Amino acid sequence: MWKGRFAKATADLVQQYGESISYDWRLYKHDIAGSIAHARAQVSAKLLSSDEFAAIEKGLREIEKEIEAGEFNFSIELEDIHMNIESALTERIGAPGAKLHTARSRNDQVATDTRLYCREEIDNITVLITGLQQSLLKQAEQYAAALIPGYTHLQRGQPVTVGHHLLAYVEMLDRDKSRLADCRKRINACPLGSGALAGSTINLDRQQISDELGFDRVTTNSMDAISDRDYIAEFLFDMALVGTHLSRLSEDLILWCSSEFGFATLSDAHTTGSSLMPQKKNPDVCELTRGKTGRLYGNLVALLTAAKGLPLTYNRDLQEDKEPLFDSIDTLSLALKVNAEMIADMAINLDTCEAAASDPLLLATDLADYLVKNGVPFRDAHELVGQAVALSVQTKTPLDQLDLSQVSEHYGADAKDVFDLQTALAARTNPGAPSIDNVRAEVARWKQSL
Ligand code: ARG
Repeated sequence: MWKGRFAKATADLVQQYGESISYDWRLYKHDIAGSIAHARAQVSAKLLSSDEFAAIEKGLREIEKEIEAGEFNFSIELEDIHMNIESALTERIGAPGAKLHTARSRNDQVATDTRLYCREEIDNITVLITGLQQSLLKQAEQYAAALIPGYTHLQRGQPVTVGHHLLAYVEMLDRDKSRLADCRKRINACPLGSGALAGSTINLDRQQISDELGFDRVTTNSMDAISDRDYIAEFLFDMALVGTHLSRLSEDLILWCSSEFGFATLSDAHTTGSSLMPQKKNPDVCELTRGKTGRLYGNLVALLTAAKGLPLTYNRDLQEDKEPLFDSIDTLSLALKVNAEMIADMAINLDTCEAAASDPLLLATDLADYLVKNGVPFRDAHELVGQAVALSVQTKTPLDQLDLSQVSEHYGADAKDVFDLQTALAARTNPGAPSIDNVRAEVARWKQSL
């Protein structure tokens, strides 16, 4: 493509080192859409006849079909998807193909393709996140009233329900979707027409191209448009944070499936056995999800690091944006799919949950609230209940079986009523709190919005 200035062919090792076709072939659909819009703008500018345009469009559509069918011969000598397609086109249709690259550089071409690609993948991932939310919601609905302890520091804290716990993840994933939607807005600007870095002396109608490609505006500084990879970094961050959420969910499920907790059982289809220990049923999907989150973080850091030292505008370092991007998309998409399927099939073990939730210590805070309602300042109430807990531990007497009137005159005969778990949960009626009515209302709200 640049043979005019060079006397020697590119060394084999340089080709091998610099090729991106082995992975950027994925941009083919977007590259072709961009080329067709670019060619149409050349018709408007009277640089191409409508016959030439028709030949270009037909040639590109044929190439697209061949790539889709796996019949296209990619060549690493042609380095990347842009040159592979352009060269195949010119081979097929001759002169009009050689006109296509007028007023365009691979720099604005790759920026356009990548934005189109990211936009589409954000939409795909958003659908997959919704699928996972729906699985969580299905379980939250079924187990809206299933009591379990809620934990801080992995120590039992206060009673919640399985439904409330799972809906916490639905919330996180919803923020993820809104972050992706926000990122999509910044992605959706068309850089085509920025040229190599300084536009072109041949002015094509950028707005026309942008409209055809479904962008909602054109970029406004050619140098920025060429070197900007912020949108990839943002997308990688958004995916990394989905990874954080999936990893935390995985950790919860790993705990729940342990004999020590015993709250949940995953389906045989979503667990693996041991080659040595016949009794084992391992939550590998959860562990893999937790592990693969490291890749999502690594991909973000790889891009930020590749971009940080670059003077304006395009530098070849920027080609290193694609593998992290593709890897995060692949890793996360599969994680979302398999987790959605696994969670939809998960069983909750109500007996174990109930036994754990029946620990009277979960209601120690409620006992302090009882004292507050009887006029004791909260700090004093906290200390009085703390003393009762210490006595319970010392005498190995469950908190709800102590004679509380011996500890303080502030406890009336009705103090024991505090330990009714259902009443305790039902009292948690403020917005966001886990009364069963609240959880059911939240389930209904999510069913509407999902
Ligand atoms: N394969 C290149 C990339 O992904 C395309 C742009 C190449 N531009 C250049 N001036 N060498 O970044």
